[in-house]
Amino acid sequence: MTSNRIAYTGFVAFVSVLLTLVVVNMVQNSPESQSADDSVESNDDGERIYRLAEVAEHDDASSCWKVIGGVVYDLTEYLPNHPAEEETFTRWCGKEATSAWQDKGNGRPHSPRAARRLESYRIGIIEEGESASVESESASASADRDAV
Ligand code: HEM
Repeated sequence: MTSNRIAYTGFVAFVSVLLTLVVVNMVQNSPESQSADDSVESNDDGERIYRLAEVAEHDDASSCWKVIGGVVYDLTEYLPNHPAEEETFTRWCGKEATSAWQDKGNGRPHSPRAARRLESYRIGIIEEGESASVESESASASADRDAV
């Protein structure tokens, strides 16, 4: 009888420890605790702040990010829809691409329609001081004006 009780107590203790470990693990992996991670920075508007080095890792068709006017865009899904030759578009993946966006490499600005499309791929901004071409005016606003 006593040994049964000891076995039962031991079993209950074991299950309690197991449950505690499961709960601690769940809390550590929850999205809330991940966004509190110091390595992920956001500005006051809750927008992600990226460094150029991180953008540079997304430099081909499998993951194509570009910095335009200080804003970071993930253009991977747009890539197959871009009307120009693929290389014209992909050579700017992972890079600061403000001037390429503004003159398309042929001296002509993108249309306001293209600028609106661009905005839907916005994922964050580049850290201040990281990019020479962080502009007070957004790329879409200047494209709207230039392309009339
Ligand atoms: C940053 C590098 C880029 C380069 C070098 C580039 C270049 C070009 C070229 C050469 C054309 C076709 C020729 C022409 O219309 O003059 C074109 C058209 C176009 N591109 Fe891009 N492009 C870039 C990024 C983008 C992005 C990020 C978007 C939108 C998310 C975009 C949307 C369009 C659209 C909609 C057109 C059709 C014409 C227009 O509406 O302006 N492009 N682009």
